Amino acid sequence: MRNKIVAGNWKMNLLLAEAIDLGRKIKEAASEIEGVQVLLFPSSIYLKSLAEIAIPVGAQNFYPAENGAFTGEISISQLKDCGATHVLIGHSERRAIFGEQADFLKQKVDSAIAHKITPVFCCGEPLEIREAGTELVYVKRQLEESLFHILPENMQNCIVAYEPVWAIGTGKTATVAQAEEMHRSIRNWITEKYTETIAQNCSIIYGGSCNVSNAQELFSSPNVDGGLIGGASLQAESFIKIAQSF
Ligand code: PGA
Repeated sequence: MRNKIVAGNWKMNLLLAEAIDLGRKIKEAASEIEGVQVLLFPSSIYLKSLAEIAIPVGAQNFYPAENGAFTGEISISQLKDCGATHVLIGHSERRAIFGEQADFLKQKVDSAIAHKITPVFCCGEPLEIREAGTELVYVKRQLEESLFHILPENMQNCIVAYEPVWAIGTGKTATVAQAEEMHRSIRNWITEKYTETIAQNCSIIYGGSCNVSNAQELFSSPNVDGGLIGGASLQAESFIKIAQSF
């Protein structure tokens, strides 16, 4: 059975004391919420401090080489060493602002799997693609180019995050029908490429202006297994309410 997941993507926010304070509050509340995996993606420099308060953490980014002359970069082994168990790959901000392309994302997926770190593979269409009505083709291609090369035993441990770019940080959420259609399609593509069992074991979470008022409706959709939460994960109260929305 697939996991229900609520993950906080803190992006480039918070100072150390704030991150620890928020992490502690979330940890305390999360222990009361049954059947939901709560995960945080803080800035990498805070991973160790958050892992020490025993909250599951993942990294927002890494460089897919073991070590060497890559000034300013962080390897997956270093992140693992600081307690990371998951990593975001393909977030639209990495694609758009930092120019990360399909081939590079494929290398990142391979690197995460080689180190037994769970990839949270992000996909999603920009507004013009949604307006042109070609979002299914677009997202399928993102998955085929960077994720669907992996072996079946690795696919069932992956998490897919569908995040329509037009919904990220805009306050404009996908409707339940839009989210469900994409999530159902993603699950069907996993079935076609792998097996029905693998597709059923794979968590597909939604991201893009998910908040206290829309989480419950989104999470009640049959193929939406949780959320990747940006803005609303920066306050304990809203994030906890979202995690309680199942
Ligand atoms: P948002 O961000 O919830 O602020 O829209 C989601 C994300 O980028 O993961």
